[in-house]
Amino acid sequence: MINITIDSKPMSVEEGATVLEACKTAGINIPTLCYLEKIQAIGACRVCLVEIEGVKDLVASCVMPVSDGMKIQTNNRRVREARKVVVELLLSEHEGDCKTCDRNEDCELQSIARDLGIRELRYEGENVMRVKRRRAVRMKAPPHWCATAPNASPAAGV
Ligand code: SF4
Ligand code: FES
Repeated sequence: MINITIDSKPMSVEEGATVLEACKTAGINIPTLCYLEKIQAIGACRVCLVEIEGVKDLVASCVMPVSDGMKIQTNNRRVREARKVVVELLLSEHEGDCKTCDRNEDCELQSIARDLGIRELRYEGENVMRVKRRRAVRMKAPPHWCATAPNASPAAGV
């Protein structure tokens, strides 16, 4: 067993455990997206970021093994802000409108975003911009415009 501190609380965990597993044992919930229990973690989504004393950058807790004397912060301002940015960037690559998505109300990313208090998107990924461009084109088209109508052509109205 090795000794670590999570959110200023000392505890002992099994050697070889990840920071995420240690937090889970301590009853601390860390949001995750790409992590699947018992499957080799890939550390791809970065939603599970935590701060470790003495380590410059925040680390993905699902791939970081604990080490003796490690001091972990799971919920300070820096961690919360970083997770928020990660989730906002992920959302920016979605269609930008959950209401029209098949996964609406049954979506882990949506639920994490809600928990983090994300109400609007600050970033626009390619998908969001594509949707906005499509909407803008639709709004510019006259309501009666139809490809088969006499004189109708994109140049005439769109
Ligand atoms: S419901 Fe989920 S998958 Fe669908 S757009 Fe919203 S965040 Fe993306
Ligand atoms: S859950 Fe995706 S990087 Fe940890």
